[in-house]
Amino acid sequence: MTEILTRTDRDIARAAAMLAAGELVAFGTETVYGLGADASNAKAVAAIFAAKGRPHFNPLICHYENEDAVFAHVEANAMARRLSDSFWPGPLTLVLPRRVTCPVALLAGAGLETLAVRVPAHPVAQRLIAALGRPIAAPSANRSGGVSPTSAAHVLAGLAGKIAAVIDSGDCRVGLESTVLDLSGAEPFLLRPGGVSRESLEAAIGPIRRGITPGQAEQTRTLRSPGLLVSHYAPNLPLRMDAAEVADDEALLAFGPPLAGAKLVFQLSADENLNQAAARLFEGLHWLDAQAPAQGLRKIAAMAVPGHGLGLAINDRLSRAAAPV
Ligand code: TXA
Ligand code: MG
Repeated sequence: MTEILTRTDRDIARAAAMLAAGELVAFGTETVYGLGADASNAKAVAAIFAAKGRPHFNPLICHYENEDAVFAHVEANAMARRLSDSFWPGPLTLVLPRRVTCPVALLAGAGLETLAVRVPAHPVAQRLIAALGRPIAAPSANRSGGVSPTSAAHVLAGLAGKIAAVIDSGDCRVGLESTVLDLSGAEPFLLRPGGVSRESLEAAIGPIRRGITPGQAEQTRTLRSPGLLVSHYAPNLPLRMDAAEVADDEALLAFGPPLAGAKLVFQLSADENLNQAAARLFEGLHWLDAQAPAQGLRKIAAMAVPGHGLGLAINDRLSRAAAPV
């Protein structure tokens, strides 16, 4: 059952306790309702993809209490400072490089070296983040492919029974998603138009990819869109899928009882739980990359993962990792 919570301090505290326990809570922001999880809890983040029925691990936006909290987790640059001063709290998402110490689950950023961050302006979102004391990872609170929700009723229509609670936060001021601006490259790039207009961004930082035709913009966006790159998250070591045995020079990415003879094993889920495996996938690839060479192992053998539920997304990511770079 999905609980419907109100905006009282008591209910906000209850929602924060649910998030801290790894459960999913939908909450209002000024743009659309978000489907929130504790961003530092990989298993809770994996549950977002399962609840939405998202076929791929698209990277999620992390919602912070203020800009100091943001810049403790991602690297600021001059443009990011200027934009955060002008537009936060508000409907602007910035894509910036993660700091090495960033505790946000790798799955929240789909294993990328960048993270999408924003400070929402809605009081319910602000109070919830403050009550949790940590950032909240949240995509729009709709089933994959559905329309973004701007009321608690919309959220329930798609996700009732799949999430712990929704906070009835009233209507969403902006009602369309935040503008996503990538500031991690040499020049700013508009990844998604949204709640802050391009014109007002340009007034603050100058031209953003001026003179580009819509077709070119679409092409560039597709190239930058992590979900569409073939070799998206490639570990340093070559990886092969659906391994039925382990060679002498291979480390093992296990799902269920490990194959015999493996010298180095990262277990995705001993009891073959796909949500747990999804939550641990990027951690596992990083860990094997780091540990295998010291043991003279030069490749990764990944055991087969079934293709249903989050298994589809896991296999999608494994096949990208296995694709030649
Ligand atoms: O208004 C909003 O942004 C709402 C509320 C809940 O905050 N959230 C939202 O999240 O729309 P979602 O997951 O539906 O959209 C996130 C967008 C996607 O287009 C995703 O590809 C992009 O942000 N994105 C996230 N992280 C990224 C990254 N590291 N690099 C490039 N794009 C990223
Ligand atoms: Mg969405």
